Amino acid sequence: MQATGTLHRDFQISKIDPRLYGSFIEHLGRAVYTGIYEPDHPTADENGMRQDVIDLVRELDVPIVRYPGGNFVSAYNWEDGVGPKDQRPVRLDLAWHSSESNHVGIHEFADWAKAAGTEMMLAVNLGSRGLDQARAFLEYVNHPGGSYWSDLRRSHGREEPWGVKMWCLGNEMDGPWQIGQKTADEYGRLAFETAKAMRAFDKSIELVVCGSSTPRMPTYPAWEATVLDYTYDSVDYISLHMYFDKQQDDTATYLAQTARLDDYIATIAAVIRMTKAKKRSAKDVYISFDEWNVWYHSKEADKKILEGGGGWPHAPALLEDIYNFEDVLQVGCIINTFIRRADVVKVGCLAQLVNVIAPIMTVPGGPAWKQTTYYPYLFASRYGRGTSYQLALDCPGYATDFAAKVDYLDISAVESDADGALTLFIVNRHETEAIDLALSLQGFGDRKVIMDKEIAGHDLAAVNGPDRQSVQPRDGSGVKLERERLSAPIAPLSYRMIRLG
Ligand code: AHR
Repeated sequence: MQATGTLHRDFQISKIDPRLYGSFIEHLGRAVYTGIYEPDHPTADENGMRQDVIDLVRELDVPIVRYPGGNFVSAYNWEDGVGPKDQRPVRLDLAWHSSESNHVGIHEFADWAKAAGTEMMLAVNLGSRGLDQARAFLEYVNHPGGSYWSDLRRSHGREEPWGVKMWCLGNEMDGPWQIGQKTADEYGRLAFETAKAMRAFDKSIELVVCGSSTPRMPTYPAWEATVLDYTYDSVDYISLHMYFDKQQDDTATYLAQTARLDDYIATIAAVIRMTKAKKRSAKDVYISFDEWNVWYHSKEADKKILEGGGGWPHAPALLEDIYNFEDVLQVGCIINTFIRRADVVKVGCLAQLVNVIAPIMTVPGGPAWKQTTYYPYLFASRYGRGTSYQLALDCPGYATDFAAKVDYLDISAVESDADGALTLFIVNRHETEAIDLALSLQGFGDRKVIMDKEIAGHDLAAVNGPDRQSVQPRDGSGVKLERERLSAPIAPLSYRMIRLG
C-alpha cells in the first residue's frame, strides 16, 4: 500500500504556541496526594514533593499546568489551602466523593510548578462561588502587597506575587454533573461580569471561558454561540474538552475518533468567527483545549467510590487508567490533530499529568513510572514546537459511521524554532499493512535524517508498569532521502517520529 504527499515551505499553517503541550493536575484521586506530594517518600524535597515525579515532568518539558480542577474547583474554597497546614480544614469534595486535607494549596502547588519548570494556569470557582472570590483569589496570587488579600499571602510566607497569567472562568459549566451547573445565559453573564472584575485588577491577564464539555452535549454548539455573545470582547480563549473511549472492540473505529475532534475544532472555530463578525470586533479569540485524553479503562472500577459506596476516602485510587499500545496510537493522532489546527488551538492540556488518566504513575513509597502514552506526548512536547505545515496527502483510507474517509496515515509536520529541524509525526492506523510513504519536500533544502523513532510491533493490549517498560520507542529504519524526496516504510499500527536536520 502506498501514500504520497507534498510539503511546501510556503504552506505554513501557523506558529505553534508552546502551551499546546500543557497538562493538568486536579485534586482528584492520587494526582496530588501520593502523586506529586508525598512527604514521607524517599525522594521528597523540602516541600514534601516527590523529586522522581518532578524529574519525569521536567523530561516532558511541560510548559503549563492547569490547577486545581476540573470538577473539583466548582466547590473549592481556595482559602482552605493557605496558612498553617495543621489549621487547614478537611472538606468533603463533592465532585469525587473524597476527603480533601488541603495540605496542598496554592503555595505548595506554586513551589511544585517552579521545581517542575512549568507555568501555572489557575481556575476560579464559578460553581458554588462567584465573582467576589475570583477577584480575591486573583489579588492573593498576583498583587504585590498593601491590600488585604496580598498581605495575607505575605503573612503566609510568600513575599512576591506569582504573576499568574492564564485564568479559567470555572470548569465545564454546561455539565449536569457540575456543582453549580448553569445555563448558557446564566454562565455567559457571570463569566462576563467576572472577567470585567478580574480585568479591572489587571488588563494583561489571559482569560478562558468555558465551552462545551464534549461535543456530545445537547447544548453544543449553541452553548459556545451564547457564551461568546456575552464574553467575546472580554476573554482570550474558549475552552473545549474531549475524552476518547472505546465503546466497541474495534480498533479502526476507536482510532477514527480524531475525525470527530477535527470537526469539533472546525465548528467552534466557525462559531468564533461568526461572533467576531457579529460584534464587529478587531480581536481574536482562540481555543484552549484544556482537557483531552483517552479515558475509559478505569470507569467500571471507579463506580463504587463515585456512587458513594466507599465513604469519603482521602486520595483514593480513581481514574487510574492503565494505557496500552493502542492508546499510544490514539494519543499520537490527537496531538497531530492539534498541530494541524495550531492556527486556532493555542493551548492544550493533557488531562491529567500524574496518576489520574496520566502519563506518569506512582507507587506510594515506591517508584514513579512511565505509561505507554508518555512517549507520544514526550516527542510532541520536545520536538513539536515551531511552525506547523500543511501536508497534501493522498492516502488510502476507510469509512466509519461518523466519517466518510479516514486516512490510514495520520501525519503532522513541524519545523523547529530551536534548530530548524523538520519533524514528521506519523501514525499508521492500518491493522495489517505497512504503508510506503513518499513525500516531496519542497523548499526545505538539503536534509538528512537526524532522528527516527518508532513504537510498533506490540500487542494492542500491551501495557507498562512499575517494573516493566514493555512499550517504549526504539530506532526506526528504512527512511531514504534523495534530494527533496523522502520515502519511508510505515509499519502497520505504528507511531513514528522522523526528524530531518
Ligand atoms: O479530568 C477529569 C474530569 O473530567 C475533570 O474534573 C472534568 O473537568 C472532566 O469532566
